[in-house]
Parts: sequence; C-alpha cells; structure tokens
Amino acid sequence: MALFVDSSDPSEIKALFAWGCFTGVTTNPLIICRESPGADLAEVIREVLTVSTGDVSVELTTEGEEEMMAEALGYHAWDPQRIVVKIPFSEVGLRVLHQLAPRGVKTNVTCLMAFNQAYLAALAGATYVSLFSGRIRDMGYDAGQVIDATRRVLDREGLGARIIVGSIRHLMDVNEALAAGAHVVTVPAAILRKMVWNPRTVETIAEFNDAWRKRSGPR
Ligand code: E4P
Repeated sequence: MALFVDSSDPSEIKALFAWGCFTGVTTNPLIICRESPGADLAEVIREVLTVSTGDVSVELTTEGEEEMMAEALGYHAWDPQRIVVKIPFSEVGLRVLHQLAPRGVKTNVTCLMAFNQAYLAALAGATYVSLFSGRIRDMGYDAGQVIDATRRVLDREGLGARIIVGSIRHLMDVNEALAAGAHVVTVPAAILRKMVWNPRTVETIAEFNDAWRKRSGPR
C-alpha cells in the first residue's frame, strides 16, 4: 500500500514530502486551475517533479485521439521514468491507452466510477486505474465494494494494474480505501494533516512537556 499527494502546489508538496510518507503525486486539470490559476502547466509540473519523488500523474486535456496521443507523448518526454499520463476513461481513452502501453508510457486511467470500467482499463494495459471514492458515493454506491471487487479480479487474473483511490473527501475514506484493497490512496493536503492530528495525542504531549518544564533538578 502507498499514499500519494493529490495536489499540484509545489510548496505544499515539498512540505508534505519532508514527512517521508509519500511516493507519488496526482494532479488533474481542476486541481491545477484551483491551485495555480493561469500558470504554465509545464512549469508547474517541472516544479512538482523537483520537490517530490516517484510517479507524477498529469492528465490529458485534449479530446481527439490524435491530439491526446501527441499530448501524452509530450508529457512522457518530460520525464519518462516519473511522468504518468492520466487518461480520462472513454472509448477514445481506451484506444489511446492501447497505443501508449506498448511504448512503455506509464498510464493512469482516471474518472473511473465502476468495477467494469476499471477492468477494461486494466485489460488494455493501464499502469494505474483511478477509482473516485467520493464521486462514487455521490451516486449512492458503496465505494468500498467497488474497490474490493476490482482488487479481487486484478489479483485473480494476474493483471498488473494498480488501483489508485482518489476523490477523497474525509479521513475515513482513506482508511476504507486501504482496507478495501487500494494499492494507493491519493490524498489532498488538508486530509493528510487531519491524519496527523488527534486531540488526545496533542493533550498527552502537552502533559509530558508540562511535567518536564516543572521538573526541578538537572535536565
Ligand atoms: C485524483 O487522481 C483525482 O483526480 C482527484 O482525487 C479527484 O478528486 P475530486 O473528486 O475531489 O475532484
């Protein structure tokens, strides 16, 4: 299991990678528009690569097959070892994936809401399949069951795709995704900070420090 940082903000990513807990980063067009409005995509991703280690997912923004292929190969050239081309799931997306996989381009098929979609992407050679926990729940489905069903079939059939669970809205979504069989959960900074904080931990540390401050005698 692993945790990725779901962000495109280089200073946030740098601060979080200093914890030593994370092995990748995921971005998407919405995150980049929110966090770096008007910024140059190549510049943002170059900075993200500098302040992180591991795989960095960059999502395609074009919609036609030829344009998507050109965009994907452009991103791949930025860092073939670390760039993962994020492909929105569709028939066109599957065709693009099927062409990229044999070229050794790492791929992350994204916006997946159901097991059957993840299975198709895995069969077509995806490196990662991204299931969207929060958005699956928005539709009234059980994200844990979708993750569990996907993991069981990937394992049973020996498919190499790794499950990333994204669209994390609450701390418990992280726990649920890991328990259900996610290989990776990609988590926004605010929720990663909630994973650190616990009132009883804060209180206990304060109690120990207070006792030490009041202690008389040699330190
Ligand atoms: C990660 O890869 C996804 O793009 C991201 O987690 C989606 O989150 P959202 O559903 O909050 O937009």
